[in-house]
Amino acid sequence: MQENNPKREKWGSKIGFIFAAAGSAIGLGNIWKFPYIAGEFGGGAFVFVYLISLGIIGFTLMLAEFSIGRHSQLSAVGAFRKINSKWSFAGALGVLTAFFIMGFYPIIGGWSISYIFKSISGEVISSNPDITANTFINLISGVYTPIFWTIIFMILNIGIVFLGIGKGIEKASKILMPSLFILLIVLAIRTLTLPGAEKGLEFYLKPDFSKINGQVILAAMAHSFFSLSLGMGCMVTYGSYLDKKENLLSNAVIIPLLDTFVAFMAGLVILPAVFAFGFEPNSGPGLVFITLPAVFSTMPAGQIFAVLFFVLLTVAALTSSISLLEVVVSYFIDQKGWKRSKAVLFNSIIMFILCIAASLSNGVWANIKLFGLGFLDIFDYIASYVLLPIGGIFVSIFIGWVWGQKDALQEVTNNGTIKFRLGKVWVALLKFVLPLLILAVFIYGSVNIPLTIFSLVIIAIFVFIAR
Ligand code: PHE
Repeated sequence: MQENNPKREKWGSKIGFIFAAAGSAIGLGNIWKFPYIAGEFGGGAFVFVYLISLGIIGFTLMLAEFSIGRHSQLSAVGAFRKINSKWSFAGALGVLTAFFIMGFYPIIGGWSISYIFKSISGEVISSNPDITANTFINLISGVYTPIFWTIIFMILNIGIVFLGIGKGIEKASKILMPSLFILLIVLAIRTLTLPGAEKGLEFYLKPDFSKINGQVILAAMAHSFFSLSLGMGCMVTYGSYLDKKENLLSNAVIIPLLDTFVAFMAGLVILPAVFAFGFEPNSGPGLVFITLPAVFSTMPAGQIFAVLFFVLLTVAALTSSISLLEVVVSYFIDQKGWKRSKAVLFNSIIMFILCIAASLSNGVWANIKLFGLGFLDIFDYIASYVLLPIGGIFVSIFIGWVWGQKDALQEVTNNGTIKFRLGKVWVALLKFVLPLLILAVFIYGSVNIPLTIFSLVIIAIFVFIAR
């Protein structure tokens, strides 16, 4: 065990940390997932609930996780345990969540890499929606090709985590995140000036409140966890590398804002394009891969933009999956005393096996269903709709009732040197509002009740063992 390792790595600079934490938050969740679930759950109505959820839950939990991590200077499990020895299960649950997300995340990352090459060859770029849709379906339903690209994605991922925290993650994020922001702005200008884009803009930005129901609220809340990397110890782990002098508050505000900016821009690029080209907004996980190539076909130098876009999407996916792998790896290093190389290798193999099952569920294994869903959807459901919200409830209860407000506020305010006017509100949110609110949405919005109950049983067994 390395619980009191004085030589633990620190972030090279403040901006390095912001980029790395934002790099974890900003990923496929923002660019691939957000536009398609917004399309599926009613456009503006979803966006509206999502923003509310971010405002109430996002900031609050982000700060909560940073404070737990920085206080203990340990990765998730150790962090909870150091504050209260009975609570290591809350961190362990995050490790479990990371496995489920890593059971499908690299597949989408792989699609993105393959689209870099398909853009270079020009194969994907077409203004004919049938062609772009076909190219996508052919790719994901194959047996070997998507798995091949998943492997490439995982190799890049493993390489960076292998190099350790500062060198790999920080360097990559610093250059590439700003490029992504700029490219999204350029693309938004292009789609918004396409004929027919106004309808999409209206769909995206004008909430139709009659569409809001339990399912929409749960989807929006679950996505705010996913998108901000909350509820699974990731921000606890990243916070643990943060220096005691840093201002947690400003970080907990900046990162959700950056994250929301990217998701919002991605929606602004994709949904108007959906309408301009006559796609359906609820066409699901293929949305980015199907609509954008059509947009590129209308741009001067569209091919170059396409290559650039998929490179940046891949990088955004990598900086997120790095953080997922890092949660698992740092658990094995901090708690089991494993070497980094052994931890990386062992866990990557398990994740890869999950990925194979998930990838095949888009093609040859499409008929294998549990609780009505294929493997990819099951992993996503268990992680996003069950584990992350429950993780969020645990973090809230932990700070509100276990660690206690006095100590938590000491940590957040750097022992009183930073002003936190809303400190009491923050604590009250964690203590009373969030646990009940998240639970209520969770119960009210759950659609697949059998799968939810199944996941809860797994969690209960896991918590029992990990206690
Ligand atoms: N936030 C990442 C995204 O939006 C996904 C993620 C979830 C990363 C949980 C780490 C932890 O793509």
